[in-house]
Amino acid sequence: DPDVSDLVAAHLRDVPDFPKPGVVFKDITPLLGDGPAFGEVIRALAARYADGSRRHTTAGEGRTADGSGRHTTAGEGRTAAGSGRHTGSPVPQRIDAVAGIEARGFIIGGALAHELGVGFVPVRKVGKLPGATVQRTYDLEYGTATIEIHTDAVTPGQRVLLVDDVLATGGTAIAAWDLLEGAGAEVVAFETVVELAFLGGRAALGERSVRALHVVEGTADN
Ligand code: PRP
Ligand code: MG
Repeated sequence: DPDVSDLVAAHLRDVPDFPKPGVVFKDITPLLGDGPAFGEVIRALAARYADGSRRHTTAGEGRTADGSGRHTTAGEGRTAAGSGRHTGSPVPQRIDAVAGIEARGFIIGGALAHELGVGFVPVRKVGKLPGATVQRTYDLEYGTATIEIHTDAVTPGQRVLLVDDVLATGGTAIAAWDLLEGAGAEVVAFETVVELAFLGGRAALGERSVRALHVVEGTADN
């Protein structure tokens, strides 16, 4: 959706030389700080998906009948999403949970889980989760990183939507995807707000389904 892409672009801030010289950091805090823009982005991410508990109705019917007490604004957004007019796909994919990757993926993922009326699975940096975990280590530009989930974070066959704020090299998303699938989930897609195309994350993700609201094509002047 070009309008959503433009909205994201208008609320990104480029910070040169962060976190290291030569890197232009794409800062999403202006987007997070703008309530209407943040809401628009979350609804855009939600548009293709429906709460798995309503799998026997159309999304629109299920949502209209929703007695959760979340009324007008969300209801309008959901009716639009259920109609498929934002997506080109009339049938929303059902999901059972949203998984978000610490730290910025928690902000997007928590809001998205709430929007969709499903639970949230935290994919955390190592050492933060209290229970038994499974871990995955992946390469960064310099060094490695390890993320983990609780061993019982998902149930076998559970349909999980994975989200993060930014797709760069793809290392983080691949590690999270493979952790969730290793724990028995069916990862439906990876959704991100921003894709830095020049870093090749989409190709690295291979056959995995990837969607981005806004794609940054260039390097130096972006
Ligand atoms: C950033 C970003 C993504 C990841 C993308 O997280 O939020 O999670 O890098 O990079 P990749 O595609 O090359 O793996 P980071 O851990 O830097 O910071 P955060 O804790 O603020 O999310
Ligand atoms: Mg991150």
